[in-house]
Amino acid sequence: MIKSIRELKNVKGKTVLLRADFNVPIQNGKVVDAFRIIKALPTIKYLQSKKAKIIIVSHAGKDGSQSLAPVHKVLAKQVKNIFVPEVFGSKTEKAVGDMKPGDVVLLENLRMERGEKENDVVFAKKLAKLADIYVNEAFPVSHRAQASIVLVPKYLPSYAGLQLVEEIKQLSKCLHPKHPFLFILGGAKFDTKMPLLNKYLKIADHVFIGGALANNFFKAEGFDVKKSLVDDGNFGIEKLLKNKKLIIPCDFVMDNEMIVDVGPDAVKALLPIIQKAKTIVWNGPLGFYEKGFTKATKTLLSALARAKAETIIGGGDTAALISPKMEKQFTFVSTGGGATLDFLTKGTLPGIKALDK
Ligand code: 3PG
Repeated sequence: MIKSIRELKNVKGKTVLLRADFNVPIQNGKVVDAFRIIKALPTIKYLQSKKAKIIIVSHAGKDGSQSLAPVHKVLAKQVKNIFVPEVFGSKTEKAVGDMKPGDVVLLENLRMERGEKENDVVFAKKLAKLADIYVNEAFPVSHRAQASIVLVPKYLPSYAGLQLVEEIKQLSKCLHPKHPFLFILGGAKFDTKMPLLNKYLKIADHVFIGGALANNFFKAEGFDVKKSLVDDGNFGIEKLLKNKKLIIPCDFVMDNEMIVDVGPDAVKALLPIIQKAKTIVWNGPLGFYEKGFTKATKTLLSALARAKAETIIGGGDTAALISPKMEKQFTFVSTGGGATLDFLTKGTLPGIKALDK
């Protein structure tokens, strides 16, 4: 059974290694979207209120070249007694040794150490030695078998942070939904989304396809997609097209010989289904949002915000289009990208399994 940090007893003065995911967009040294940081605050504050000493560890970026200093700036505005990033080594031990109950230390990007991505036992033991308790508040990276996610929990009593508990609770609803259930899948990369599509064609009553994924269906239907993004490979699209649950957009927007967004009629055609649905799950933007084609996504988000259904939004690019004010209008917005896709497909993740002992 996974234990929540609410089950922690006598944590006063104990050192907690808190694995967060502060892999957030940073531009010119500034965090431009603090969603994941904000979602980790209740766990940090809860542990602080119980007078734990908290060491926060996180990665940022793929290769470890990004400093967490910009994240520290955001955290310092929200969390009292938080100290500047420290690199690994003697400085870390000193900073940890000097901590008083309620203090927080944010260590530097975990991926600066090769052992993190290489899932190295020696590195994991080094991390575990810093603390008495391990907490996973890093849902977005819990699909990765990396040292701080799957190995450290082997060596310490381990707990789930408040957001991780919520992610599991809310995303599990998608596996056993109330019907009618509408599943909306956008974005790109057919190969990574294929297992998800096959699964939800079984579970859902309707599956709407948007984003570059839809281009593959337009092409299979014989439409000249010109320079639009399409995937190479045989995904059995002809067979999928016969599935009555599948809804392919009836119109789209073109720009520079490329399909760049779902058209207004396709969004309109979805409205009666949205109104009747009891569960709506959405992952992936409907248009080429990096180039500003966000109209269909925004219209659909407004429709979902008004819907009576439970609305669960898969994170990553879709969540990035939701303002903090708008977030409250949905049942749940996941902090994960790839992790959300994996959880929706497999019902668990390596980092969640590692807590279950
Ligand atoms: C994410 O943003 O999806 C997570 O932080 C995982 O990052 P990664 O894909 O670099 O492992």
